Amino acid sequence: MKTFYLTTPIYYVNARPHLGHAYTTIVADAIARYKRLGGHRVALVTGTDEHGQKIERAALEAGVEPQKFVDTISAEFRSQWERLGLEYTHFERTTSAHHRKAVEKIFQAVQASGHIYKGHYRGRYCFHDEAFVTDTGEEAECPLCGRPTELVEEENYFFRLSAFEQPLLDYYQKHPAFIRPETRRNEVISFVKEGLRDLSISREKLKWGIPMPGVEGQVFYVWFDALTSYLSGVGYGHPGTGEEKFADCWPADLHLVGKEILRFHAVYWPAFLMAAKLPLPKAIFAHGWLIFEQDKMSKSKGNIVSADPLVDAVGIDGLRYYLMRNIVFGQDSTFSYAGLVQRFNSDLANDLGNLASRTLAMIGRYFKGSIPDPGPEAVQESREAAIIEAAGKTITEFQSKFDNFEFSRGLELVWRFISNLNKYLVETEPWVLAGKEDEASKARLATVLYTSAEALRITAVLLYPIIPTAMQKLWAQLGFPEPLENMRYANLAWGQLPLAQKTGQAEVIFPRLDKEKTIARLSAGTAIGKAVGTAAGKATDTATRTAAEPASKPQKGISMPPDATDFITIDDFSKVDLRAGEIKSAERIEGATRLLKLTVDIGAEVRQVLAGIAEHYQPEDLVGMKVVVVANLKPRKMRGLESQGMVVAASVGEEGKPVLVTFNQDVPNGSKLS
Ligand code: MSP
Repeated sequence: MKTFYLTTPIYYVNARPHLGHAYTTIVADAIARYKRLGGHRVALVTGTDEHGQKIERAALEAGVEPQKFVDTISAEFRSQWERLGLEYTHFERTTSAHHRKAVEKIFQAVQASGHIYKGHYRGRYCFHDEAFVTDTGEEAECPLCGRPTELVEEENYFFRLSAFEQPLLDYYQKHPAFIRPETRRNEVISFVKEGLRDLSISREKLKWGIPMPGVEGQVFYVWFDALTSYLSGVGYGHPGTGEEKFADCWPADLHLVGKEILRFHAVYWPAFLMAAKLPLPKAIFAHGWLIFEQDKMSKSKGNIVSADPLVDAVGIDGLRYYLMRNIVFGQDSTFSYAGLVQRFNSDLANDLGNLASRTLAMIGRYFKGSIPDPGPEAVQESREAAIIEAAGKTITEFQSKFDNFEFSRGLELVWRFISNLNKYLVETEPWVLAGKEDEASKARLATVLYTSAEALRITAVLLYPIIPTAMQKLWAQLGFPEPLENMRYANLAWGQLPLAQKTGQAEVIFPRLDKEKTIARLSAGTAIGKAVGTAAGKATDTATRTAAEPASKPQKGISMPPDATDFITIDDFSKVDLRAGEIKSAERIEGATRLLKLTVDIGAEVRQVLAGIAEHYQPEDLVGMKVVVVANLKPRKMRGLESQGMVVAASVGEEGKPVLVTFNQDVPNGSKLS
């Protein structure tokens, strides 16, 4: 089997590494680990893009030689990947000697096929995106970033991109999975259909680039240079074993890129490869942006967040989990400190952490730290049979979601399985069984704890690609001496946890965070740009608006005290069973604009509740939130779904905007309100 080869973009070194860069690399690392567990050999190439006008200008501004400048920032990227525990097989630098050889080689192949010619370029150029602005030549703003473009006029070498218009369209047609997601694929197809103009692939006035072989005074256009890293990163153009490695890796199975650089990858790159007679990558996936302070994180906008303080606060796995779980891969997503901490506490510390620590502590206490024998009862009781069935389904469906880049959906499925297990423990009450003397209770206790530990084994393997460090700890706590990374998904079938295996020390894997303190700490220390300025701007804005509002504005929605005849008695009130609950999942309902489908843990059970809040809450912001549930409301059906209760909300303003009632300190699920 060929090596599974995936890449991250090669990062520009005009900016220091930030969370936006880390995001792509974290996803790539998770996919690489996932593929390894699936039995693949994997090559993952990342690196730094170090040539071009904007790097040259940045070095000049910093007052250092370009080479020194790129050495420093490239090293920062490498140490950032190390700090984040990101594993790659090769870190490519475009200033390396072997990369230069690879660029020369592909250029010669393209030239040999007759697709290079000398011409005169006059047009506008965006130095920020290193992109030619096509069409009129008069356009002042870059269509990619909106910045002003500069007029460029010089003798250049051109690539006959126009000759590839139809071959590209045919290729997209024949390979529907080449560009993902679908919406981006359609954008690329429309762009190509509008017509492709030949592309200047050299620069005359620029010094900081790879010289074009056989041509005096021209260096390569930075994208021609940078895209070639995907080849040089796996041996193309290297003497010795390079070609062998290249044959094993190329074509790439997956290029992961941000949406703004898709055009370079899905149009220019396949055209260069076609011209050089090299096979095309199998897939390009364009992800969305991490939005912070309402805008894409970027140096010029000054809203950059560094990953370091986030890792200090929630650990590498906490950050990885948040990014993979909260963001629908392919879409833009708002990054928030509150969301980060909320996810950590509710999913990792509560759901997964509690399941692990309870199970292992009870095995320690009741079975002297030795995995109990489930006995024949394991398959007899319907509860265990349901868990075994759910495990099988989760294993299959998780992989199908992951294969389809639906990481957050895949994780949702695993968390549904974890919730079932927590519910199973609540219902089977092993702590009560442990207090009984009869043989049947002892056997039942062994069954329950085996089932729960075996389910944890499967969970640990499934979640390893996303939260590797924590799952390795759990693995060791379950008593496995071998590293978890050696496991394979093919060996996940139920019942492989060795009986009598000695469990390790039960330690808390995800210590709960103090929400307010953590958010305050993060807000004070994550920005590496001038994010604080943006935040302050907003605060002033609000202050001005508030001051301008009339003090005596009538407060709609608050009614007068009721007449005596309207009073209810305490007995009336006590008929309403109000419970504290925790939202475990929230999703939109197809065809319903206002309704969200929630599952809410109210202690003794998990309820499905429909709530008319879809216009005011994002489903992902609700998960983990503590709410108040009317637990004894008669169930009713809406849109074919049963609502088993109601969440309590204030109705605010003229439109009656719902604001969910919550608690200002943690309360156990199921607590009664009186
Ligand atoms: N050097 C080019 C890529 C050449 S690949 C042959 C480049 N570099 S970049 O450093 O500007 O961006 C690299 C990647 O980081 C892009 O995929 C980009 O989308 C991603 N991100 C940068 N900021 C981001 C966010 N705020 N959110 C998500 N990803 C972001 O382009």
